[in-house]
Amino acid sequence: MNGDLINALFEFGAALCLGRNVAQLRRDKRVQGVCVSSTVFFTLWGYWNVWFYPSNGFILSCVAGLLVVAANTAWVCLVAAYSPIGTRSVLYGVHAFWLHPFLIAIGWWRLYGFLWDPRLWVAFFVHDLGYWDKPNMDGPEGESHPELGAAIMRRLFGKEWGDFCLLHSRYYAKRLDRPVSRLCHADKYVIILEPSWLYLPRTMATGEVWEFIAVARARANTVTGPSDPLNKSERDDFASGDPWRWHRSVQSYMRRWLAHHKDGAADTWTRVRHKGEAFSQ
Ligand SMILES: [Fe+2]
Repeated sequence: MNGDLINALFEFGAALCLGRNVAQLRRDKRVQGVCVSSTVFFTLWGYWNVWFYPSNGFILSCVAGLLVVAANTAWVCLVAAYSPIGTRSVLYGVHAFWLHPFLIAIGWWRLYGFLWDPRLWVAFFVHDLGYWDKPNMDGPEGESHPELGAAIMRRLFGKEWGDFCLLHSRYYAKRLDRPVSRLCHADKYVIILEPSWLYLPRTMATGEVWEFIAVARARANTVTGPSDPLNKSERDDFASGDPWRWHRSVQSYMRRWLAHHKDGAADTWTRVRHKGEAFSQ
């Protein structure tokens, strides 16, 4: 037996074991006692192997290695899919770490000009990390998400930058009865900027959109007074429950909110939604 065949048999055995892990995870829908990062590491190693084996003439090992990497990739994807909604948001949803910071940078550039200060980039990357492990997006836990990014920025660059992150959320700022930071404006610009075809598939995959629509439907049924900022067509779209109509009207509402508030006008459109234990400030 040659070395390639023996190695391929080991790889094939590993693929069978990993396939059982995938099946078990589909049954359990959660992971305990396992460090996910170790499988992420072995998955990356597996991708390297499927390039490394054939380039050294180990064809059988490459074929078996493809099964290993497929099983490991499936397992990592399932872990992500079964994680709390806030984690899914940061991994591949509204606040995807590989996309959202760059869209905010574009929003900032359009509103305030070029990003000379590197601390801005750090803020763009950390301000929404607090969604990690949150069981909801717009509930009390999700609404407390600015606290993690604010703590990181405060530790790195001082209180002013901590507040810059903390007050990027309209609802968090309203709860503290403080004005939003300029990061909020750039963050809201992202909603206008991001096309539905890019936004909706991700939020449907994470499930975020259904929570957003439920909140929007409740909002559509609430009239906050004669000066309610929600207009008739936005209210109808919110009430429809249709994701495409909902997103169109979120963009329209946010475009008007931004035009009204980007120069520092007091935010009379946003109302306190949650108070209580989920918040540390
Ligand atoms: Fe954000």
